[in-house]
Amino acid sequence: MHFQCPKLTPLQSRFVASFAALLLLGLVYWSLSNPHFAYAAEVEGGGLMGERDGDDHNWYRIEEQRLREDGVDVGGGGQEGVMEGMLEAVLEARAVAATAISDNNAPNNLNIEPGGTTVWSYSEALLTSPAAPSTPGLPSEVGEKRSLDSAHAELRKRQDSGGSTTIYVSINTCLQPTWNGTDQQSDAPPQLTLYVSSGAGNENIGPNGQNQVVQELSEGFANVSVVASGTWYIAVSAPTLPSGYVGSWNYELAVSHDAYYHSADEEDPNLFLVDTDQHSALLVTNNLTQQDSNSTIFQDWMDLSTPFVMFAANVNNTAMLGLQKSYCAWAKSGQLAASQDDPQGDNTGVQMGMITRGLGNKPKEQFYVTNLNASSQYVGILAEPGNSTKSGAGVVGGGGKVWSPVIWQTKADGNCALMFNLTFCDEVAYAVPNNPVTFNTTSTTGGEDGIDRLRHIYDNYTSYYYQQFNYSLQQIPCNISSDAQYSTIKNCTDCAAAYKQWLCAVSIPRCADFSSDETRYHPRNMGQSFPNGSALPSDLLNTQYTPMSRAPTLDGTPAYSQTYLSSLATNSSRNPILDAQILPGPYRELLPCEDLCFSLVQSCPAALGFGCPAPGRGLEAGYGKRSPDGALTCSYLGAVYDISAAGNVFAPVFEALAIAALVGLVVGVV
Ligand SMILES: *[C@@H]1O[C@H](CO)[C@@H](O)[C@H](O)[C@H]1NC(C)=O
Ligand SMILES: *[C@@H]1O[C@H](CO)[C@@H](O)[C@H](O)[C@H]1NC(C)=O
Ligand SMILES: *[C@@H]1O[C@H](CO)[C@@H](O)[C@H](O)[C@H]1NC(C)=O
Ligand SMILES: *[C@@H]1O[C@H](CO)[C@@H](O)[C@H](O)[C@H]1NC(C)=O
Ligand SMILES: *[C@@H]1O[C@H](CO)[C@@H](O)[C@H](O)[C@H]1NC(C)=O
Ligand SMILES: *[C@@H]1O[C@H](CO)[C@@H](O)[C@H](O)[C@H]1NC(C)=O
Ligand SMILES: *[C@@H]1O[C@H](CO)[C@@H](O)[C@H](O)[C@H]1NC(C)=O
Ligand SMILES: *[C@@H]1O[C@H](CO)[C@@H](O)[C@H](O)[C@H]1NC(C)=O
Ligand SMILES: *[C@@H]1O[C@H](CO)[C@@H](O)[C@H](O)[C@H]1NC(C)=O
Ligand SMILES: *[C@@H]1O[C@H](CO)[C@@H](O)[C@H](O)[C@H]1NC(C)=O
Ligand SMILES: *[C@@H]1O[C@H](CO)[C@@H](O)[C@H](O)[C@H]1NC(C)=O
Ligand SMILES: *[C@@H]1O[C@H](CO)[C@@H](O)[C@H](O)[C@H]1NC(C)=O
Repeated sequence: MHFQCPKLTPLQSRFVASFAALLLLGLVYWSLSNPHFAYAAEVEGGGLMGERDGDDHNWYRIEEQRLREDGVDVGGGGQEGVMEGMLEAVLEARAVAATAISDNNAPNNLNIEPGGTTVWSYSEALLTSPAAPSTPGLPSEVGEKRSLDSAHAELRKRQDSGGSTTIYVSINTCLQPTWNGTDQQSDAPPQLTLYVSSGAGNENIGPNGQNQVVQELSEGFANVSVVASGTWYIAVSAPTLPSGYVGSWNYELAVSHDAYYHSADEEDPNLFLVDTDQHSALLVTNNLTQQDSNSTIFQDWMDLSTPFVMFAANVNNTAMLGLQKSYCAWAKSGQLAASQDDPQGDNTGVQMGMITRGLGNKPKEQFYVTNLNASSQYVGILAEPGNSTKSGAGVVGGGGKVWSPVIWQTKADGNCALMFNLTFCDEVAYAVPNNPVTFNTTSTTGGEDGIDRLRHIYDNYTSYYYQQFNYSLQQIPCNISSDAQYSTIKNCTDCAAAYKQWLCAVSIPRCADFSSDETRYHPRNMGQSFPNGSALPSDLLNTQYTPMSRAPTLDGTPAYSQTYLSSLATNSSRNPILDAQILPGPYRELLPCEDLCFSLVQSCPAALGFGCPAPGRGLEAGYGKRSPDGALTCSYLGAVYDISAAGNVFAPVFEALAIAALVGLVVGVV
């Protein structure tokens, strides 16, 4: 092996650089006798430095396997310039024990065997190198906590004085040992530990070291910041493996004097579930700003195409167990991963884009996740790749940020279809009753597909009735001086808005599985057959049901003698077009909120004759009540699931497994 190449091509120089890393680790003889490995480690590992996305994600497996065969730890190279410089140092002093951190804001990728420890050194040259130029960043801070964080960071920077600078050390586990036991895996493999020296030049760190900050990784992530001067040492150690696990870890360590290269928001998911059907889920980020739509911040957000991405995995998928806070792990092993290069989701199955739909009509990013399995639980996570426009080495925060997980469950029955992008009821975004035999919403073969025809039916129906309302409203003297109007506080604009809200929520029912036993859902169409031809058992249909405890009945039979089959409230849809054109079969409805009806009556002239059913006489069977704690107990436009009932939905993933075990809620519908 020769090093006197006069002019290196980029590939060659990367080869040499990587080879230097191998030398550093004392693998000289072995790699000389095994040039094939050296080549593989270089070419495939090189992709890690900047172009991780879209790479062959198998490279690390190949590398890991080779390493396991040979029982060694191997460094993955660094930035070319630095590594070329290092090469000389290496040739002079082969006894260096610590591996050099390649650069500020760069991932240092390494495999580590159980029981192993790697020591890293962050040189004074890197510490004193100029700070990275400031970049525009996102149009505004995301979430409230972060602005506090950045204020702290600002404070720390100002406190730094001559010779000492705050350094930000962060680590992501990218790969972990796998389960090879005979029974089912119940736990994640143990976590790596990060050691950061608390004084300059202290090489004695690690499991037996001294004067160090010790942080065990949590869910594949750890961060430590210290005020450093001179050469600073950092170590990473791997625990020994409990029986049943095999393999090693792969991690990405980064040090920067600008900011953390990796980050994880441990409290805030910043992501809300809108609704699901059997095979898809719709999620939105929180409002990205509260600014008015005419502000530049609002416009700047809307001009971004996809600042965030998301990852998701079936809760039964154990690859991400114990790695929830690691961007690197999600990017490598997430079962479903959105990509900024494929916002339409043609290859990833995750469609994303900026929207203003929802309460307040503020900018948010929407994720439409498809190709899911029915009645399965998923854990999803919002993530920011790098600084949102660029990621990888050389970018401040280039290792990505993740937020805390959101858990959702897909529907079990096939007769609810997730629907959004309507023309008239443009605020509708939830599952609606559907007949998958007539309107196949999962296939797009040939011409107009099922979801478009379904959308058209709902769109036509609502705009038709709105037009009828418009004709009526035109009979009302709306354009006269305010003291002659029908109300001093409401005008025709308010009336039209209230009518639209009510009409959309009432004619486009929010659909839930008939097999669900949650009390917030109201059964509909019980006497119809399911799209697959099956029907509900007659003893269920003939169960007594009392929709209106205080109402007289038309045929004189007392209210309490009604059954699910004989009551209109349980054996029909509220919107007749459903039973005439869609025929969804039995489903459950999240009833519209009663305040939508009250608001309509209050906002519109009495001459239009609107009224709401009275309590005990149809109100309960027709409308739901909002819950004070934010849980979604009735349907209104722009609703998302559990905006403040955070504890339930955003349970950590370990709980998810427990929940998954408990939720056996698929009541057999035959
Ligand atoms: C991200 O980093 C790159 C490189 O430093 C920079 O050019 C870009 O403006 C940054 N983007 C944002 C949104 O800050
Ligand atoms: C996994 O387990 C099987 C059977 O117990 C064993 O034959 C195999 O060697 C194990 N694999 C590793 C990598 O230890
Ligand atoms: C480490 O990261 C967490 C989450 O990103 C953050 O809250 C915390 O302040 C960071 N720790 C330090 C020491 O900066
Ligand atoms: C935006 O519009 C609101 C009223 O709709 C107005 O009060 C505000 O001053 C406007 N802001 C800007 C930046 O034009
Ligand atoms: C967004 O902001 C509006 C008010 O502007 C608020 O009602 C809503 O709850 C916020 N969050 C979401 C996810 O819509
Ligand atoms: C769907 O289920 C199959 C079989 O159980 C499983 O192999 C696959 O990973 C699942 N896919 C998703 C996206 O959950
Ligand atoms: C919804 O509308 C947006 C913008 O018009 C479009 O990009 C997207 O493909 C539509 N999504 C679906 C599922 O129709
Ligand atoms: C639209 O809806 C109205 C009222 O339900 C109906 O009369 C008309 O035929 C529908 N048009 C189409 C194209 O479906
Ligand atoms: C009613 O229809 C007319 C004509 O199409 C339209 O100009 C007007 O804005 C509509 N009114 C409402 C309240 O939508
Ligand atoms: C209502 O008044 C506006 C201007 O104040 C006018 O443009 C509009 O034509 C009037 N509409 C009717 C129905 O009189
Ligand atoms: C109706 O009242 C709202 C305030 O409640 C006001 O913003 C709006 O301009 C009024 N519309 C008309 C046509 O007077
Ligand atoms: C997923 O896990 C749950 C609970 O452990 C189990 O009931 C279910 O059958 C599993 N699903 C698959 C597809 O393995």
